[in-house]
Amino acid sequence: MSQLSRIPVLPYQTTRRHFLQAGLAVAAATALPQGVSAASPNGKLRTAHIGVGGMGGADLASIASHPKVEVAALCDVDLGTLNGAGSRHPNAKKFRDFREMLSQLGDSIDAVVVSTPDHTHAPAAMTALNHNKPVYCQKPLTHEVFEARKLRTVAESKKLTTQMGIQVHSSAVYRRAVRIIQDGAIGKVSRVYAWSNKNWGFDGGPFTATADPPSNLDWNLWLGTAAQRPFTPGVYHPGNWRKLVDFGTGTLGDMGVHIFDTPYAALALTFPKWAKTTCRKPTGVGHPEKNIVEYEFPQTPYTTESLIWTWFDGGYAPPKSEDLKLPPGIQLPGQGALFVGEGGHLLLPHVSEAKLFPEEKFRDYKRPDVADGNHYHEWVNACLGEAKTSASFSYAGPLTEALLLGVVANRFPDTKLEWDATKLQVTNLADANRLIQREYREGFKVEGL
Ligand SMILES: NC(=O)c1ccc[n+]([C@@H]2O[C@H](COP(=O)([O-])OP(=O)(O)OC[C@H]3O[C@@H](n4cnc5c(N)ncnc54)[C@H](O)[C@@H]3O)[C@@H](O)[C@H]2O)c1
Repeated sequence: MSQLSRIPVLPYQTTRRHFLQAGLAVAAATALPQGVSAASPNGKLRTAHIGVGGMGGADLASIASHPKVEVAALCDVDLGTLNGAGSRHPNAKKFRDFREMLSQLGDSIDAVVVSTPDHTHAPAAMTALNHNKPVYCQKPLTHEVFEARKLRTVAESKKLTTQMGIQVHSSAVYRRAVRIIQDGAIGKVSRVYAWSNKNWGFDGGPFTATADPPSNLDWNLWLGTAAQRPFTPGVYHPGNWRKLVDFGTGTLGDMGVHIFDTPYAALALTFPKWAKTTCRKPTGVGHPEKNIVEYEFPQTPYTTESLIWTWFDGGYAPPKSEDLKLPPGIQLPGQGALFVGEGGHLLLPHVSEAKLFPEEKFRDYKRPDVADGNHYHEWVNACLGEAKTSASFSYAGPLTEALLLGVVANRFPDTKLEWDATKLQVTNLADANRLIQREYREGFKVEGL
């Protein structure tokens, strides 16, 4: 379980106008109508929660803290976890299979929260969208590129209110960094370096020890769309699945999505032209324990002719400050991002105030006044027709697609994967395309995916 990635709930204030200013396709998509009230006749939003342990427990508490929320249903494949959450919400109906929950409850729920392991995000979120429910879905939006594209297009075509669970997106420090970049303080940006010294990889071989799954766990439902296999204690549930290629997305998918978010938003990026990962050879079991991932993005109003983005994780992070051409003596945080602009550098430690270099030049720089917001309540308010979300699937879909291309690239070390975003295809390596969309297990297929 990633304790460090349990970032506290942070409040919100919009920066959508900055996306709109960029005038890009991704940005324009966020302007689709949202906020048609999903409230029940008593004015409350009746929520159903899929995955209520780990981060799901934190999500449940944060959503339930909104005065207009009534927690109507809980679903978890782990009976102990389900009953624990049920004791805190005794009026909520309890389920182990989200498909049964959604088809049985129909119009008696208004909105759905998905906080399962990554491989179940798309199946659960798409099932909710198919029932015309607004969705709050944990990050990264999906496990596969194809799923991210489909969730976005279905949510947009149905005009449903959505939000991806990147709560730091709504923090004042991140929003202020977006404003500083878009106000042009460091000029046009040519490079972004981003990193996390966490290690959500596994370099070992296949698991041989097997055991009966614990009696409280429905292992078949936990596997869901993934291929059947025996249970191995301590390897999958809870939390460790994120290291494994069939279930998680490694450090890049886990922490990268938080750290990618601000540069992605600030620079109004769209789809990468290519991605390349430097890492060990693939094992078919886990994501590599240390990776360097490079991307090139096309020009936007905030970048130079092209934008090169480099990610470092595990033992490769943080990068050496001299590699980043920073002034001597600057200590890099364990996790964060560095923007290299024509007129200066912006260093953004993960969930801390941005630092501007050269310090002399920015001594009298007046930082924009930006307030904190509550990412969860923003979604609830949007479902009630009183706000708009800032990380809807229209934003989160392309961000996740870009991120996941770098995850796919860890299966083809040192190979540039040339990307055609329109066709959703790697154009120079046919083998890579089988990782863009996975085959769902018989009995777990989902309409629309
Ligand atoms: N936004 C953040 O800061 C943050 C922090 C941590 C985790 N997360 C995300 O939250 C998600 C969950 O991560 P976690 O660390 O809590 O994992 P976890 O394994 O600890 O918890 C997952 C929960 O979902 C349940 N579950 C699994 N499959 C299910 C299914 N098919 N139906 C219903 N319930 C199911 C499990 O029993 C468990 O209670 C991941 O996508 C992760 O990336 C986000």
